[in-house]
Order: sequence, then C-alpha cells, then structure tokens
Amino acid sequence: WIAPALALLIGYLLGSIPFGLILTRVSGAGDLRTIGSGNIGATNVLRTGRKGIAAATLLLDIGKGAAAVLIAGALFPGGAVLAAIGAFFGHLYPIWLKFRGGKGVAVLMGIALALSPVCGLVFALMWIGMLLVTRISSVGGMSAAIALPVTAAILGDFELVALFLALSLMVIWKHRENIARLLSGTEPRIGGAKADAP
Ligand code: G3P
Repeated sequence: WIAPALALLIGYLLGSIPFGLILTRVSGAGDLRTIGSGNIGATNVLRTGRKGIAAATLLLDIGKGAAAVLIAGALFPGGAVLAAIGAFFGHLYPIWLKFRGGKGVAVLMGIALALSPVCGLVFALMWIGMLLVTRISSVGGMSAAIALPVTAAILGDFELVALFLALSLMVIWKHRENIARLLSGTEPRIGGAKADAP
C-alpha cells in the first residue's frame, strides 16, 4: 500500500501549491481571495490586471497536474492515475488554505495532457474555442471538462472515462456559483466589467 499512498501524496502536495495566490501576493496585488470571484485560478488573477502573472498561473497550474502524473507514473507502476486524483483534489482542497482551493480547470488540463495527449489536446481546443466564442472563462472551462470523458470514450479507454467523468463532475460542482451567475446573466466576460467579491 506504500507505493499507491506515496503516489497520492506526491500528487496532493504538487496539486495543493496555490500558484495564483502566491504570485498575486508576491507581485504586490494583494490577496486573490478578496478580488473578483475570490477564486485562486488564472482567470481571477487576470482580474488584477496583471496579464503576465495570470499567464504564469495558468502554465504553472497546468504544469503541476502534468508533473504529478509524470513523476508518480515514473516512480510507481500504476501511480499515474493515483497522482492525478491526488493533484486534482490537492488543487480543489489544499490543506494550506483550509481546504478552500480552486475550480480545477487548469490542473485537469495538465493531468489530461500527461495521461492522454489526445484527450489533453481536445480539452485545450475546446477550452480555447469556447473562450473565444463566449469570452466567459467558466463556460470554456466547463465545456472542456465535459469534452474529456467523451473523448476518452471515443478512444475506447474506459479507465480514463471513469476518471475523467468523476473529475469533470467535480469541476462542474466547483463552478456552481458561476452556473448561478450564468443563469442570472451576471457572469463577467474576460476583459469585461469586474466581478464582485463574494
Ligand atoms: O477555472 C476557473 C474559471 O473557470 C472561472 O473562474 O474566477 O471566473 O470563477 P472565475
């Protein structure tokens, strides 16, 4: 049981690094949790007006998901999927932030890229495509998450279907405030008016 536990732990520790929060604080823009949507992801970092920090957050959050899968996969047979689960839940529920973490879109893309490059690519295209069409980050992220188990099913990889279905449902659950704003027509667009802090 030690190898699976270590894979989960490596994933969790990497996933729980709150890059958005750290970079925003270091850049002097304050506590991200009191800005915009209050989320710790790249979309909300963008609301501080610091595009470079937002891009770095996006890349690092994608990178930590991919790194967890690749490192644990190389260290332990069968460790990749467990590290993916650990990284995802580390990002959503980081112990360092009293378990109040992010919504999982970027980390899920990194996980998908490392587990199945085709799935990761479809995720990225769906995310970017829906973002360009709607200019609403949450719509892009949720669309990409939904596309993930569908892509794995088309590829015939049913272990990945089960994993991606569970993780994409968690992404939707974490976006429940965004969904409420979408339904009431108050979800902000990228580059549009600022969202209110919760
Ligand atoms: O990945 C998070 C994004 O989909 C929504 O972020 O800050 O608009 O709630 P935010």
